[in-house]
Amino acid sequence: MVQDDVLRQDWIVACRSEDVGEKPIQVMLMGERLAIFRNSQGVHAFKDLCIHRGAALSLGEVKNDCLVCPYHAWEYNDKGECVKIPQLPEGRAIPKKAKAVHYACIEKYGFIWINLANNHPEFFRLEEMEGNSFHNVIWGPQQVQAKPPRIVENFLDVGHLAVVHQGYLGTESHREIEDYAVHWEKDRVYSDEIAIFQPDPDGSGIAKYVYYTYEIVRPLTVKFTKKDRENDTTMTILLTVRPVDEHTSTAYGILSFNYETGLADEQLIEFQNEIFSQDKPVVENQKPEELPLDLQVELSLVCDRMSIAYRQYLKKLGVTLGTA
Ligand code: FES
Ligand code: CO
Repeated sequence: MVQDDVLRQDWIVACRSEDVGEKPIQVMLMGERLAIFRNSQGVHAFKDLCIHRGAALSLGEVKNDCLVCPYHAWEYNDKGECVKIPQLPEGRAIPKKAKAVHYACIEKYGFIWINLANNHPEFFRLEEMEGNSFHNVIWGPQQVQAKPPRIVENFLDVGHLAVVHQGYLGTESHREIEDYAVHWEKDRVYSDEIAIFQPDPDGSGIAKYVYYTYEIVRPLTVKFTKKDRENDTTMTILLTVRPVDEHTSTAYGILSFNYETGLADEQLIEFQNEIFSQDKPVVENQKPEELPLDLQVELSLVCDRMSIAYRQYLKKLGVTLGTA
């Protein structure tokens, strides 16, 4: 198991809602094997381990709202209590210890989120997913051989856009970043609008400036807002990362548009995949793999203010997973 008390107390993304159908699925989260299943009451998460003989409950099935172990068909209700043991002679009581380990689990904004500490913290709000003013597209999963903070910081990094994503999200002729401030509020850390010159931000074929605002929502959940002042349109991307084990992460996103893009969801996803594939080799090869929270360790520029704020944020909360 990957220890991190701060993240265990938080809601961490496990999978997309659409991944949990009639069959239970196995999801690895912070080195913990989980069985996630859906019944008439919603989605539930157990440790993927039957107390009888250690079988993986995720190989079982859902019957009468219970998760049935694949090995000897013990039935667990959605609180994790064993309610039926077929081998027990009639009249024998089910042992009190016959339980599955149950984790808090909610389905929200198109994803399943797990709270390993079972303390149900407040969930962040994503206004784009509430109301009808945005068209939302679920993106991911994308598996990455890197620790979550390096992936998150890459997403908050404005300086790389005109280098790694040259021709897509920036141009070689416009690599300078104007100075900007980062603001700290109670539940929110966000940047000023930063001007970024893009080759074709709205599909019209004309290069122009768009304005990015970066925001830290949770330790592994961040967002940017891209504003086109001429068209008065807004696009946001929420990135959220699942720590799989010590070395692997899975990234997911929500792409939100308050305008008609003229593109099918598949095309929007494909574009995002392309952008992500440009970042991936960089992020998978950064050293150290852990994000250094000591600001003396790497050499930052003024334009790295957002990354610096992210490191300070993780340090303040005491996140240890993937940090040094
Ligand atoms: Fe699960 Fe026996 S191992 S019922
Ligand atoms: Co990038």
